[in-house]
Amino acid sequence: METWDAIRARRNVREFEDRSLAAEHLERILEAGRRAPSSRNWQPWDFILVTDREHLGELAKVSRSAGHVATSAATIALVLPRSENAGARDRAQYDVGQATMAMLIAAADLGIGSGHAAVADQDRARSALGFPEDRYAAYLIDLGYPADRPLKPIRNPNRRPFDEVVHGGRW
Ligand SMILES: Cc1cc2nc3c(=O)[nH]c(=O)nc-3n(C[C@H](O)[C@H](O)[C@H](O)COP(=O)(O)O)c2cc1C
Repeated sequence: METWDAIRARRNVREFEDRSLAAEHLERILEAGRRAPSSRNWQPWDFILVTDREHLGELAKVSRSAGHVATSAATIALVLPRSENAGARDRAQYDVGQATMAMLIAAADLGIGSGHAAVADQDRARSALGFPEDRYAAYLIDLGYPADRPLKPIRNPNRRPFDEVVHGGRW
């Protein structure tokens, strides 16, 4: 897909075909995240890739809004360092957002659907994923071929109008 088409085709997919993803496609998506920019290039993230069906089912229990993880072909947990420093926490959130978006666009480029899930229960996430005490699972990104309809550029996205969002020169 062209980059511009991939940007316009990406949407949250919450129903997936029962079809695995090629290892090289998963590697490309993870590599897109690894290459993301971050504050002073500190790369605060670790990515945990889960593809086992039973393991995905366990992961889907980390929040009430993560049910779709259970039927994904693969899910990437985005793990960040805990910090007492509010500035560092803000930077890590911004950075992981950039890594996320790079992965979502790389996935869309391959026709692979993606979704987000917040993580409410950190104890459950830690027990499923085994990350250390000084880290937390910021989000889950689930992946798979969309079961509802293939990805294609969305003509009228559900977004605030361009002229309301974009300010020329001053607010
Ligand atoms: C930080 C963040 C957290 C999100 N958490 C969830 C979630 O827990 N469960 C879910 O189904 N979708 C989640 N989403 C997806 C958003 O609801 C979705 O991106 C938004 O409604 C726009 O829809 P679109 O992605 O299809 O364009 C999350 C998105 C973001 C950016």
